[in-house]
Amino acid sequence: MKNAGKDMNIINVFEEDRMDNVPEEELVKPIIQTKDVNVYYGDTHALMGIDLDISPKRVTALIGPSGCGKSTFLRCINRMNDTIPTCRMTGTITLDGENIYDKKIDVVQLRARVGMVFQKPNPFPKSIYDNVAYGPRIHGLAASSTDLDEIVFNSLQRSGLWNEVKDRLDTPGTALSGGQQQRLCIARTIAINPEVILMDEPCSALDPIATAIVEELITELKERFTIIIVTHSMQQAARVSEQTAFFHLGKIMEFGDTSEIFTNPKVGKTKDYITGRFG
Ligand SMILES: Nc1ncnc2c1ncn2[C@@H]1O[C@H](COP(=O)(O)OP(=O)(O)OP(=O)(O)O)[C@@H](O)[C@H]1O
Ligand SMILES: [Mg+2]
Repeated sequence: MKNAGKDMNIINVFEEDRMDNVPEEELVKPIIQTKDVNVYYGDTHALMGIDLDISPKRVTALIGPSGCGKSTFLRCINRMNDTIPTCRMTGTITLDGENIYDKKIDVVQLRARVGMVFQKPNPFPKSIYDNVAYGPRIHGLAASSTDLDEIVFNSLQRSGLWNEVKDRLDTPGTALSGGQQQRLCIARTIAINPEVILMDEPCSALDPIATAIVEELITELKERFTIIIVTHSMQQAARVSEQTAFFHLGKIMEFGDTSEIFTNPKVGKTKDYITGRFG
């Protein structure tokens, strides 16, 4: 993204210290830890020695030029790369201290704990109601239809979509606008109450108004969920995240508090990237 750092007003968003209410003990204990993670697609070495600690109930942004491995890394965290035949991973990733690549891990359960929102909104070809009810149904989270109604209501309410769709829950999710579809996908993800939500460029197909709504939503969601977001927008990373990892050519070049990364990067490459000098 050539103009990534053009507008250095991003610094202004740090005027407000968003770390004020963070309980000390939650900051220290990471929910996800990756150790020496390497990923290969056949002979391509896509990720090299990734060590990263993700703090619970915070937003961590992954930034870096196209092809540097951000999506690959995100997909390691819910084992989506397992579905790519040429893909091989070494190293360890733990969630709440448990190795997610351990043989005893049920991948379906893991993906319920680590939900994912994609770049392009991808509602199922089902009604709005059924899109949100799908996960709770297959995971048996609702004991009755009243329970299910409540989960659907709460999820749509939390994703900020309820008022816009409450009178048309039976209509297809695919008939919503792009921004509404993305919020529907977020509602579908939070309906199964995951611990972690992975977002791969969730706003890149949205207009600025829909983007602002989704960003506001991300800020609300982090009270309950841990969020890892890939973004090509430096503004967005600065607005929504507490921590930022800068990826370059399959490695993490720099990781730290977002305010530090954007105002006082330690590594020359980070500075070049956020100021739009390459990428
Ligand atoms: N399914 C795949 N098969 C083979 N190689 C892949 C596959 N997916 C990614 N790669 C390669 O792995 C490297 C990292 O790709 P990845 O998609 O993770 O980058 P990214 O940082 O998400 O890029 P972008 O910002 O363009 O989305 C690239 O060299 C890419 O070509
Ligand atoms: Mg990507």
